[in-house]
Formats: sequence, C-alpha cells, structure tokens
Amino acid sequence: MRAVSANLFALLLLCALACVFYVWSALESRVERQQRGFSAPGGPSLQRGLPADLSAKTFRVLLAVPAAQKPHLGGRPKADSLSGQAVGSRGNHVNGDKKRSARREGPVQSGSPVEDGIFWSEWLEDLLPVGFTEEHCRAWRERARAHRIVKLEPGCGRISNQLATFADGSRACVRYGINADQVQGEALTYYLATLLGITNLPPLVLSQPSANSEQWAGVRPQIEGLQWSDRAVVSLTEWVSNLTGVVTPALLRQEGSGLHPVPAELWNKTTAELLELMQWTDLIIFDYLTANFDRLVSNLFSRQWDSRVMERDTNNLLRTPRGDLVFIDNEAGLVHGFRVLNMWEKYHSTVLSSVCVLRKRTGERVAELHRRRDARKRLLELYRDSEPLSLQLGFLSDEHADILQDRIDRLYKHILHCKEKYSQF
Ligand SMILES: Nc1ncnc2c1ncn2[C@@H]1O[C@H](COP(=O)(O)OP(=O)(O)OP(=O)(O)O)[C@@H](O)[C@H]1O
Ligand SMILES: [Mg+2]
Repeated sequence: MRAVSANLFALLLLCALACVFYVWSALESRVERQQRGFSAPGGPSLQRGLPADLSAKTFRVLLAVPAAQKPHLGGRPKADSLSGQAVGSRGNHVNGDKKRSARREGPVQSGSPVEDGIFWSEWLEDLLPVGFTEEHCRAWRERARAHRIVKLEPGCGRISNQLATFADGSRACVRYGINADQVQGEALTYYLATLLGITNLPPLVLSQPSANSEQWAGVRPQIEGLQWSDRAVVSLTEWVSNLTGVVTPALLRQEGSGLHPVPAELWNKTTAELLELMQWTDLIIFDYLTANFDRLVSNLFSRQWDSRVMERDTNNLLRTPRGDLVFIDNEAGLVHGFRVLNMWEKYHSTVLSSVCVLRKRTGERVAELHRRRDARKRLLELYRDSEPLSLQLGFLSDEHADILQDRIDRLYKHILHCKEKYSQF
C-alpha cells in the first residue's frame, strides 16, 4: 500500500513538473516573439499585443521540408520585352503629388470603380502612384552593390536576417535564408513582379558576404558570430521606414463575399478603400502565381484553430503612411512554394476564385505571358541580366518553370471566366 502511495506521489510530482515546464516554455516563446516584434529600430512594432503566433509556427514547420531539386541555369535565350514596354517598367514616381493624394482622401468619384466588366477604372489607376519606381530601384540597386556595409544588427525578423547599414547611412534587410531555395525564391519573385509590372516589392540585390568581400569587410566579426556559411548568397532589400501592419479587408477573408465587380461589393467603398483593394488584387494574383503561402493563405489555413487570425495583421505585408502596400519576405514564393504545392493548392485556388476584379495592366501582362508561353525565358533573361550572382544561385528547375507557366495559364482562364460572367455589367 505504501509502495502504491509512493508511486502515486511520484507520478503527481512528475505531472506538476511537466505543467511548470509547459507554462514556462509557452511564456518564453511568447516573450521572444514580442521582443522580435519591437526590435526594428526606428520602425513601429507590427506585432503589438499579439497572442503566440500560431501561423508563423506552422510556417516554420513547413520550412523544414528538405530541399529537392538541384538548381540549374538554362541557356541564353533572347526575347522581346512584354507589350513593347521596357522589362522592369516600374513607372515614374516614388512619391505621389499632393493633388493626387488629396483626391485619394476625398469622397468617391461619381464614376464606376470598374470598367470593361472586370478591370479597375482608369480614374482609380490615375490616383495610385507607382510604388517603387524603376528609377528608384535602379539607383538603390547601384548603391546597394557599391557601398560598404558598416553595421549589422537585428531588426528584420528572425535572427538569421539582419538589418544592415551602408556607409551612406541607408539600410537594407539582409535575408540569409534557411537554404538556397529561399534566397532564390526571394530573388526570383522580385524579378517576376518586375515582369508583371507589380511595383509593391522593395528593390533587391544579391550579395555574397564571403571572407574576401570588400563590401562586407567592416562587419566580418558579426558575420562570424552569425555563422553564415562563407559561400552563401544572401538577398538585400531596401529597408523602408514608418511601415505599419495591414489587416486583410473583410471582403477577402474567407467568410467575406470575395471581390466581384458588382454594386453590393464595391460601390459603397471610399476612394482610399478602393485603392487598397486594387493593390490587394495584384497581391492575390502575385501570390497565386508564385504559390506564396506565407501571406494571406497561411492566415486562412490558421483559421482552423485560430478563429480570430484574420482580424490581425497579415503576414509579410506592410503599409506606408501614404497607403501603399509593401510585399516583404517573398522567400516562400516560386521554389519553396512549388515544392509544397500539394499542401497549399486548395487554399491558393480558393483565394484566386474569390476575386474577379483586377488591374488592366496586370491582366494584359498575364495574357501576354499566356499567349507567348515564355515565362521561363523572360524571367531567366531578366534575372541573368540583372544579377551578377545569378549563375551561382541558380534558376528554376524545368519542373518549376513548367509549374509557373501552368499557373499563368490557369490564371488567364480564370480571368476569361470572370470576363464572361461579368461582361454585362
Ligand atoms: N524592407 C523592410 N523595410 C522595413 N522593415 C522591414 C523590411 N523587411 C522586414 N522588415 C521588418 O522585419 C519584420 C520581419 O520581416 P520578415 O518577415 O522579412 O522576417 P521573418 O524572419 O520572416 O520574420 P517573421 O517570422 O516575423 O515574419 C517585418 O515585420 C518588419 O518589421
Ligand atoms: Mg516573414
């Protein structure tokens, strides 16, 4: 009897210890996430008061999927630029003029927000200045390749990413990536956005902080502390100040009606709301094409156990004070996203099928990539011509290039379907 009591007591003691350990671990991980949320120098916290972020945990687990294909770089095909426009055309202004911004804040114009059935109206397009312009990107990229890096510190998410300060005082987020796939994904999604004329991604360059790099010589001790591999290729993206979080608009949450060119959904919106929705339609098209699950889709997935996830900020999406959306952290796109497509395709398709309004230019570029069936060729050409380290980092495998073309074709069919359905409006 005494032995039984002793065993029972020992068992109870073990359970109590396990509970204490569990509570301690949960507290520790919450504190770590909150610290990271407050760590961007000069920037506002984007994760204020969030409960433990389950969606991010899910993503971390998925990142553990082992790398599959060996990257390769194809030949050197020649191709015309899309629609006769310069490849990489990103418009002309980083900052919109005052007149335009006053109109953005004002009441909705009497005209319809859509034209030709499914496209955002020209008057709305005129009110939305280009995000990161071609000139801005070119100048930033030149500086990012030329200036020495004088400081590395936390401030760009997980510890393997770093906030770098250049000798001229400007800053960049350095993304090391869990494996080369992620750096490839980040870089290739940037160039795909350029091909599509989507200007919401900050400019990016690849870099190699190897031991003999002059540019990185000033931060060598920090690099050693971070244990980055000497041959690793990292991406640098422009660091943008004063960004804040973005909650998914109600129409685009799963319980929402979706975005269709019908009066009930769009005609009661303010101009500012319409301009934001317009950028969301580019985001949805872009994340569908790249199969990037680490934004809206991972939030939808997390709804299974976190019913209020959609009321909080969307992963990897930020907003400037002017209202422009900034698509950051695209490393799940294309390479990794294609590798885990089976897991996520249901969600990608659901999101795409809930949207039947789009920007005319994006639609035209998708139509052209569909008609010419040359997405691989154009992406490769742009990437190879713009990135001295492209050979080292590699390109999409043939299989993934086929998946990209297939997604362009599916997207094109979806646009046709929307046109048929709403052409009478
Ligand atoms: N280009 C940028 N400009 C300004 N701030 C940025 C930029 N990129 C990242 N950040 C800041 O770093 C945070 C995390 O960025 P990111 O998503 O790239 O890293 P992460 O390691 O995936 O982190 P998380 O797991 O929190 O998503 C952002 O929420 C933002 O505060
Ligand atoms: Mg992120």
